[in-house]
Amino acid sequence: MESAEVARRFLTFFEERGHQVVPSASLVAEDPTLLLVNAGMVPFKPYFLGQRTPPSQRMTSAQKCVRTPDIEEVGKTTRHATFFQMLGNFSIGDYFKEQAIPFAWELLTRPREDGGFGFPEEKLWVTVFDDDDEAQSIWHEKVGVPLDRIQRRGMEDNFWSMGVPGPCGPCSEIYYDRGPAYGREGGPVADEDRYLEVWNLVFMQFERGPGDSKTDFPILGDLPAKNIDTGMGLERMAAILQGVDNIYETDTLWRVLDRAAGLTGARYGRDRRADVSLRVIADHVRSGTMMVADGIRPGNEGRGYVLRRILRRSIRNLRLLGGQDAGLMHELTDVAIKAMGEQYPELVRTAANIHTVIDAEEDSFLQTLRTGTAIFDTAVEEARRSGGRTLAGDQAFKLHDTYGFPIDLTLEMASEQGLQVDEEGFRRLMREQRERAKKDARDKRTGNLDVSVLDELLTGAGGEVDFIGYGHLRGDARLVGLLVGGANAPAAGEGTEVEVVLDRTPFYAEGGGQLADHGVIRLGNGAVVEVTDVQAPLPGLIVHRGRVLSGEAQAGDSAHAEVDVERRRAISRSHTATHMVHAGFRRALGESAAQAGSENSPGRFRFDFTASGAVPAGVLRDVEDEVNEVLVGDLDVRAFHTSIDEARAMGALALFGEKYGDEVRVVEVGDYSRELCGGTHVARSGQLGLIKVLGESSIGAGVRRVEALVGIDAFRFLARESVLVAQLAEQLKARKEELPERISGVVTRLRDAEKELEKLRSQQVLAIAGSLADTAKDVGGIAFVGHRAPDGTGADDLRKLAVDVRGRLVARPAVVMVTGVPKDRPVVVVAVTEGARERGLKAGALVGVAAKALGGGGGGKDDLAQGGGANPAAIGEALDAVERAVGAA
Ligand code: SER
Repeated sequence: MESAEVARRFLTFFEERGHQVVPSASLVAEDPTLLLVNAGMVPFKPYFLGQRTPPSQRMTSAQKCVRTPDIEEVGKTTRHATFFQMLGNFSIGDYFKEQAIPFAWELLTRPREDGGFGFPEEKLWVTVFDDDDEAQSIWHEKVGVPLDRIQRRGMEDNFWSMGVPGPCGPCSEIYYDRGPAYGREGGPVADEDRYLEVWNLVFMQFERGPGDSKTDFPILGDLPAKNIDTGMGLERMAAILQGVDNIYETDTLWRVLDRAAGLTGARYGRDRRADVSLRVIADHVRSGTMMVADGIRPGNEGRGYVLRRILRRSIRNLRLLGGQDAGLMHELTDVAIKAMGEQYPELVRTAANIHTVIDAEEDSFLQTLRTGTAIFDTAVEEARRSGGRTLAGDQAFKLHDTYGFPIDLTLEMASEQGLQVDEEGFRRLMREQRERAKKDARDKRTGNLDVSVLDELLTGAGGEVDFIGYGHLRGDARLVGLLVGGANAPAAGEGTEVEVVLDRTPFYAEGGGQLADHGVIRLGNGAVVEVTDVQAPLPGLIVHRGRVLSGEAQAGDSAHAEVDVERRRAISRSHTATHMVHAGFRRALGESAAQAGSENSPGRFRFDFTASGAVPAGVLRDVEDEVNEVLVGDLDVRAFHTSIDEARAMGALALFGEKYGDEVRVVEVGDYSRELCGGTHVARSGQLGLIKVLGESSIGAGVRRVEALVGIDAFRFLARESVLVAQLAEQLKARKEELPERISGVVTRLRDAEKELEKLRSQQVLAIAGSLADTAKDVGGIAFVGHRAPDGTGADDLRKLAVDVRGRLVARPAVVMVTGVPKDRPVVVVAVTEGARERGLKAGALVGVAAKALGGGGGGKDDLAQGGGANPAAIGEALDAVERAVGAA
C-alpha cells in the first residue's frame, strides 16, 4: 500500500466518522516554544488549552513533522528520521477513551478491501498507563483484546506531553508484532524492535507545568475538557504495510535512496557504512525539500540552522560515497519533490524555488569545503607546532561556525593526519551557540515572558483577543492583563515599562512582514500608556509593549486604544505596494519569483524573493514602471475571507509558511494582485501615490532583496535626486540631458591625462638609467649600483629601473639595488647579472639582507627579487648592508 494511500485511508476513515479533515499546518510552528512542528497535535494545542475555539470538535490530519534531537542516529538505526508525517484523530471535548479505542481498533483490523489496514488481531498488543483501569477494561471488555496482550507501563512510556508546559495525559499505545525473527517474545515491555509501536492514543486531560525530565513535572490541573490526541507514524505504518524492514525502504524514501545509489555508484545492502550514508541522504534530502517548501531558508540560527545542517549532511554523505560533483542535490531534490508531490501538490508547483534554494546551498557548501580545507590545514599545522596531538575544540567550532565545516568532516580529516579533536570542547561551544539561537528566536516573539504567563493572559482575554484594527483605528476595550518585568501586576505607575493585554484592540501586532502599530492606550482613570511595540506571542494573543506616560495603569480598568494613524497609513501603503511589486516580479520573472520575506515599514519596504541570479536592471525598471502605471488606475483594494481551496482556485498566491486553516484572508488589488495576507492595506491603489524601487541585491544563497520607497518618501527621494542633478549641471555648465556624455568625456580625459603623467614619470625615472650604470662602483670585482629613487616612485618603476640598469651592465658581474618609498613604506628591488650569480650572489638573498635592515621581508628569484620594510629611515643602512654582502662574496 503506497504511503499516500495510508494517509488517505486514515483520513477517510475518520472523515466518515464525523471528523473534519484539517490540512497539515506549515512546519514553521506558530508555537513560540518550538522551532518546528514536531507532533501532529501541535496546531491543536490552543484548542486543548481552551484558548481558541476549534472549527469542529472532531478533526483529523496528516501533519508534517521534523524532529532533529536524534539527527546523529538517522540511518544508523532504522527507526529514526528527521522528517515524518503523523496521522491523527482529535477530539476537543467531544468523545474520549470509550470511543477513541474502538475507533483505532476498527481501522487497524478492518480488512484492506473494506478500507482498513487489515492487521490480524492476534498480532496486535496494547499498553496502558499504570493506573488506567478504565482504558484496560475498554480494551478487554469492549474490544476483546485478551488480558495477556495488554501491558501496563509507567510515566516514562505511557504518559504523553510535549516536554514543555501545556496539555498532557496518560496514553495507550498499540504495537504490531513483527514475529520471532525480530526479537524476543514477551510483548512491547520485552522488545520494542520486534513489537513496533504503530499508534499512540493520548487521553489529553491535564495541564502540566515546567520540568526537565519525562517523569518529573507538576500537574497544574485539568484541561477545560477531556480530549483525544492520537498519533500514528505514517512512514512506520507504510513500512509494515509494504512488507519492508524499515522506513527507508518504503516507497517515497526508497526512490530518493535508490537514486542516490545510482548517482554515486554505491550499492545498498553491501556495506554498513554506505547503507548509513544512503539512508541519511534519503531522509535528509526529503526533510530539506519539505522545509524549504515551507519557506525556511538555510541560515546560521534557529530553523535556518537546522535546515543548513540537514542539507550539508546530505552533501557530506554524498561525498563519502564518492559523489563529488555539483548538481547531485538537484537531481535528488527532484526525486523527493516527485515522490512527495502526490500528497503535497504545492511541491510540484514551487519546484523551481525549492531548487533555487537547495542548489545555492550546495554551491556554497562545495565552495566551503574547498576553502575550509585550507583553513583546516593551518589549524593542523598550529596544533603540530605547539607539540599537541589534539585539534582544539574552539578550532573545530570555528571551522564549523565560520566556515560551515561539519564536525564529522573535521574528525575524519584530523584522524587522517593522526590527530584527535577535542570533541567535548566543540560540543560545549555548539550547545552554547544553539541555546543562544533558540533564546533569540523566542525572545523576539515572547519577550522574556513565560509561556504559562502567556496562557494566563490569553485566558484573561477570553481565549482570543478580538482584533478590530482592519476597520478601526481606535476603540473601547478593557485592560485584561498587565505585566511588569514579565510578571502579572495589579498596577503600574508613571514611567514603568509594561506589557498590556486588552480584550479587543485596533493595534496590529508585528507579523507577515508588517511592522507593529504604535499609539496610546488611555485608561478609564486617566492614565495613559504609550505603545511602542505590539507582538502576538501566541495565536490569538496580542500584547502591547510600552511605558506608562502618566497616571497609574490598573488591571481591569476600561481603556480606549488609539493607533498612531499616520504611521499605520504609511505602513499600509508599504504593504499594498509590496503586493504590487511582488505581482510585478512574478509577471516579469515567472512563478519562481516567490516571496521569501518582507518588511513593511512607514514609507519604505523591502521584499525578498527567490531567484537564481541578479535581476537585470532593465527588469527592475520595467516592473517599477508597470506598478506605477497600474497604481494610478486607482484600483480597489479588497480583503475578504474564503476557504483555502476557493482562494487557490482564484489564483491567490499562497505565501510560504502560511498556516492552512479553514478560512483564509485574501487581499486583492483590482485584478493585478491577489494574495493570502493578514495585514492592513490602503483602500485604493491611488493612495500609494508613487513607488520608487531603490535597487536589488543578494542577501544569501538564491535570495534577492528589493528595496523601495512609497508615497511621499518616494517623492522626496526623487526630488532630492533632481536637486542633485541640477547641481551637477550647474557645476559642469551643461544641460541636464547632456550630463552623461559630459561626465564620460571628463572621466576619459582625466584617465588619459593620468596615463600620460605616469608615462612621463616612468621616462624620467628611466632616463637616469644610463648615468646610473656609469656610477657603478667596483666592490670586490663586482659592479655595484645602489640607488635611492625619489619618494613617490612606484614599485613598478623601481623594478623597471633596476632591470634597465642591469641590462646596461649585463656583460659584467653586477648587482643593482634600487630602493624608494612609493607610499609610506620602503621598497627594495635587487637585480643581478649572470656573471654575479656565478659568483654566488643571489637577488633573493640580497633582498633578504636589505629587508632585514628595513624591518620587513621579501624574496624572489635569483636574478630579480623585491622586498620591503616598515622603516624608510633605514634605507641608507640597507644600501650599506647589501654593499657589504656583495663585497663579502
Ligand atoms: N501527541 C502524541 C504523539 O506525538 C500523539 O499524537 O505521539
